[in-house]
Amino acid sequence: MLPILFLFLLFSSTPFLSNAADFCVGDLTLPEGPAGYPCKKPAAVTVNDFVFTGFEKAGNTSNIIKAAVSPAFTTQFPAVNGLGISIARLDLAINAGDCNAVAIVSFSSPSPGLQITTIALFGSKNFPSSIIEKTTFLDDAQVKKLKGVLGGTG
Ligand SMILES: *[C@@H]1O[C@H](CO)[C@@H](O)[C@H](O)[C@H]1NC(C)=O
Repeated sequence: MLPILFLFLLFSSTPFLSNAADFCVGDLTLPEGPAGYPCKKPAAVTVNDFVFTGFEKAGNTSNIIKAAVSPAFTTQFPAVNGLGISIARLDLAINAGDCNAVAIVSFSSPSPGLQITTIALFGSKNFPSSIIEKTTFLDDAQVKKLKGVLGGTG
């Protein structure tokens, strides 16, 4: 009889447990660990914790790559803390038509790293041109020109 009672208690408490794991709004005042930020106390969580307004305005694309990323990562949107997901708005001023392009991109991490290939290749300090030439099939003059525009050396 005892195992059956135990199972009943386990099943009856399951909905409560799954609700508790549905969110972990990050408390950004505490240090971040490998699994993200510690959870804000459930009693302190409000509806506003789950509202993100950072995608309302277009990002500033007045830069050399004519693009802007507006992230909704844990730091900007603590509701995604611990959920293994995040999203970002991507504005691009390079378009075949008359207007800018907008994309919403998703990531499989609440705090993803972001690398812009052009800047990583041609804006890095001391990244040897010979390696860039072999991997991009550009000649030395083209690589040096791009490094000059993006501030890379090496
Ligand atoms: C966009 O960025 C450029 C370059 O940094 C700056 O001069 C301009 O004021 C910015 N525009 C807005 C609307 O923030």
